[in-house]
Amino acid sequence: MKKNIAVLFGGCSSEYPISLKSACSVLESIDSSKYDAIPVGITRDGQWFRFSGDLGEIAGDTWHQDRLHLKPAFLSPDRSVHGLGEITEKGLRFTWIDAVFPVLHGKNGEDGTIQGLAELAGIPVIGCGVLASALSMDKHRAHQIVSLAGVRVPRSVYFDHRPSESELFTACKDLRCPLFVKPLRAGSSFGITKIAELKQLPEAAEEAFRHDSQILIEENIDGFEVGCAVLGNDVLTLGRVDEVELDTWFFDYEEKYTQQHAKIHMPARIDADTERKVQDAAVKIYRALDCKGFARIDMFLTPENDIVFNEVNTIPGCTSLSRYPKMLAGVGLSYSDVINRLIGLELPK
Ligand SMILES: Nc1ncnc2c1ncn2[C@@H]1O[C@H](COP(=O)(O)OP(=O)(O)O)[C@@H](O)[C@H]1O
Ligand SMILES: [Mg+2]
Repeated sequence: MKKNIAVLFGGCSSEYPISLKSACSVLESIDSSKYDAIPVGITRDGQWFRFSGDLGEIAGDTWHQDRLHLKPAFLSPDRSVHGLGEITEKGLRFTWIDAVFPVLHGKNGEDGTIQGLAELAGIPVIGCGVLASALSMDKHRAHQIVSLAGVRVPRSVYFDHRPSESELFTACKDLRCPLFVKPLRAGSSFGITKIAELKQLPEAAEEAFRHDSQILIEENIDGFEVGCAVLGNDVLTLGRVDEVELDTWFFDYEEKYTQQHAKIHMPARIDADTERKVQDAAVKIYRALDCKGFARIDMFLTPENDIVFNEVNTIPGCTSLSRYPKMLAGVGLSYSDVINRLIGLELPK
C-alpha cells in the first residue's frame, strides 16, 4: 500500500515565496511508487487548501486562484481521523495521512507550531519535532544550549523587551563593532542590520523590533560562513562542508537569492582536518538541539580556524539548487535520494 504524505507549502511567513520553490522540487522528486504526495497549500494569510492543480501553479504562485483545484482543508487534531479534513461539494471528507512533510520556512512552519499540530494529531512529521524546531528558531536560546554543549558562539546581548536608548547603549558598550542586530526569530536575513558604529544601534534595534518582540545583538565573527548538511536520526549522514564567500557587507535576503556578490563553494576551500572539525561540531549542535530528520547547520570559521556557531535551519531551502542537497550530492546522494531517505526515516517499511 502506498503511503499518503501531506506536503505543506506556502505558509504564513515572510519566507512564503521560498517555500513554493522548495515544495515544487520536493513534490517532483517524491518516489511515486511508494508514496502519494498530497499537496496542501497555506496562503500568506493562513488559509489552508488541498491543492490538486499543476505544480507550475505553485511555482508561479497562482495556485490559490485556481478555484477548480482547491478544497478548504485542515489537519485534524483528532487522532481517530489521523489526517486531513476537506470541505467538498458533498460535505466533509477525511483522508488518512501517514506523514506530514512541512516544506515551510520561517515562522509558522519551521518554528514548531506545525510540528505541534502534527504531533497532537499523532501523525509522524518529517524533519525536526516541536522542541528542536522551536529552539533552533530562537537565536538566543539556541546559542545558550550550543554553548553549553561546548561549541563557541558569538558574544551577544539579548533583549526580551524594547529597551530605552540609554539601556541599549549601556548593555552594548563592551561589544566590539561591527555588530549584527537581529530579530530573535526570523529568517532569510529579514530585519537584520549590520552596523559599523554603536551610534547606529537605536535605528537597527527599531528595525529588528519590527519583526519580533525580542532581539539579539551579536559581535561580528571574522572569517567566513560554512554550512554542514545533516541527515538522519540515530545514524547520521553528513554532507561535504560548503563555504559562503562574500564580497559584500553581509549575506542579506537579496544576496541569498540572487547571489550577485556571494559565491557558494561546495566543497569549501578548507583542508580535510578542518572539514572534519566542522562536521564534528555540526553533529554536536544537531544533538544538542535534539534535531532529527534533517537540518543545515551554519557556522563561522575564523582566521584561527576556530568554529563559531551561527544558526540551525531545521527546514533548509530545498530546491535542487539549494545548499542542503548540494552538500549531500558531494557524498553521492542525488536530490531525490535525499528527499526519499528523509521521508523513509519517518516511514520505515
Ligand atoms: N555574528 C556574525 N558575524 C558575522 N556575520 C554574521 C553574524 N551573524 C550573521 N551574519 C551574517 O548575516 C547573515 C544572516 O544572519 P543569520 O543569523 O544567519 O540570519 P537568518 O536566520 O536570517 O539567515 C549570515 O548569513 C551572515 O552572512
Ligand atoms: Mg542564516
